[in-house]
Amino acid sequence: MKLFLGSDHAGFVLKSEIVKILNKEPNFELVDCGCFSSSQPVDYPDVAVEVCNKAVRHKAKAMLFCGTGVGMAMAANKVEGIRAVCGVDCFSVKFARLHNDANVLCLGGRVIGLGLAEMLVNLFLRTEFEGGRHLARVEKLKKVHMHFE
Ligand code: RB5
Repeated sequence: MKLFLGSDHAGFVLKSEIVKILNKEPNFELVDCGCFSSSQPVDYPDVAVEVCNKAVRHKAKAMLFCGTGVGMAMAANKVEGIRAVCGVDCFSVKFARLHNDANVLCLGGRVIGLGLAEMLVNLFLRTEFEGGRHLARVEKLKKVHMHFE
């Protein structure tokens, strides 16, 4: 399964730790779209848009890392086809998959430790969308952009 990843400088270290863990699993094909250093500042919206466009094109999941996870989630949710969750607790991430069919997980390298991050990543990757009554709601989410005028 293709999995797109990206970070800014503040999320780089946590992303690198998660990449190390996921690299041990043969069923994930990781595509790390950068950045590749914590010392060279980059703008999180640029990374989020690049990663999310690739995820939508490949009908794949993605994970984004910045200082809080918040900026990445804000940027990601502006890309059509993306339903991003900023992950800070297990319950929300599990239900973001079960009920919202979240396809992007955003994590904050300055907020959560590696232990919690690993749990959230596992929930995000291994929890299936429940469908059923949630299907029509997620379909409505996809049309939200049309109601802005
Ligand atoms: C970078 O300093 C920081 O603002 C960014 O990583 C992120 O936390 C934004 O949401």
